[in-house]
Amino acid sequence: MDRAEARLMEENARIPRQPESRDVRARSRAFGYGKVILIGEHAVVYDQPALAAGLSLGVWAEVTHGTGHLTAPDWQLDTWAGESTALGQALSAILRRLDVTDVDVRVGGDLPAGVGLGSSAAFATAVARAIAQARGRDPDAALAAAADAEGIFHGTPSGIDLAAASSGEIGRFQRGAGWRPVAAARPLTLCIGLSGVQRATRDQVDQVRRLREETPPVDSVIATLGQLALAGERAVQRGDFDDLGRLFDVAHGLLAALRVSSLELDTLVHHARAAGALGAKLTGAGGGGAVIALAPGHEQDVLDRWSAAGYHGFIAEIGELGLRKRDTGIESPSNNIAASTIPRPVESST
Ligand code: MEV
Repeated sequence: MDRAEARLMEENARIPRQPESRDVRARSRAFGYGKVILIGEHAVVYDQPALAAGLSLGVWAEVTHGTGHLTAPDWQLDTWAGESTALGQALSAILRRLDVTDVDVRVGGDLPAGVGLGSSAAFATAVARAIAQARGRDPDAALAAAADAEGIFHGTPSGIDLAAASSGEIGRFQRGAGWRPVAAARPLTLCIGLSGVQRATRDQVDQVRRLREETPPVDSVIATLGQLALAGERAVQRGDFDDLGRLFDVAHGLLAALRVSSLELDTLVHHARAAGALGAKLTGAGGGGAVIALAPGHEQDVLDRWSAAGYHGFIAEIGELGLRKRDTGIESPSNNIAASTIPRPVESST
């Protein structure tokens, strides 16, 4: 067991347990992982496979007996189920699906919001899981409730963000087929660069839909992104970082062709390559949000270069749960708390 796991177990052990009444736990906590899409964003909306991974950053939710009040003290958010905000509507959708009314929810976490790292899916997953656990509903009901909330944030999401938020591992996702974990041959460390620009996923997805309607050959770009995702899966399984880096670069070019890159994202990508990255691309819906760069041995060079250009970035080991699980047989924690280090509001969409 590593130090992070020991801390999470300690945190959970400290949760005061009130006496159980019927099958109901009086207080419950759950976690939703942030995510990065490695290859295949946007194409996944059109039934192509995509490769994604959970981040150890995420959102936690704690549920107590109450009246439908949600607070996120670190982010100065306060809403009630039924309020017209996206957060209030999302909470209502979760409560409705789980047939629960008598809970309050406190939310926190360390995942930057609105930057393409899946904060809304992590929020929906944590809140739905915590309420389901507290009221004895099954995990499938929690997933359906989280999907209802994600629909309020994003319209008609493919489901990849939710799948990664629940899993925390590296996986291949395809509509219809769902999530299939991918075993990485070795740990995968990424630099994540933040453009500082927020764009709504829903708008980016609409923009690609319009482009596809107006320019039918765009379908072949989408199909190629699906092929790149499958090639990326093989590269992860082989631990072939040179190949994965090249695939990132090609994927970024195709996403730019879909018009979802931006000056900031292209700048981050070019700085990463100049600092020694094997490859870099935007991740998530684009327009703003984040980029990922694969730069083994040059991670700090990439961050320094981004910083000199005025961009914030961090280093993340992705899919580490999957690696640990294979090595030790430890299951992914579904009821844990992450340390709060970069609190931001989660209400804006990712
Ligand atoms: C957003 O993280 C990923 C998109 O492909 C949208 C989706 O799959 O729902 C852009």
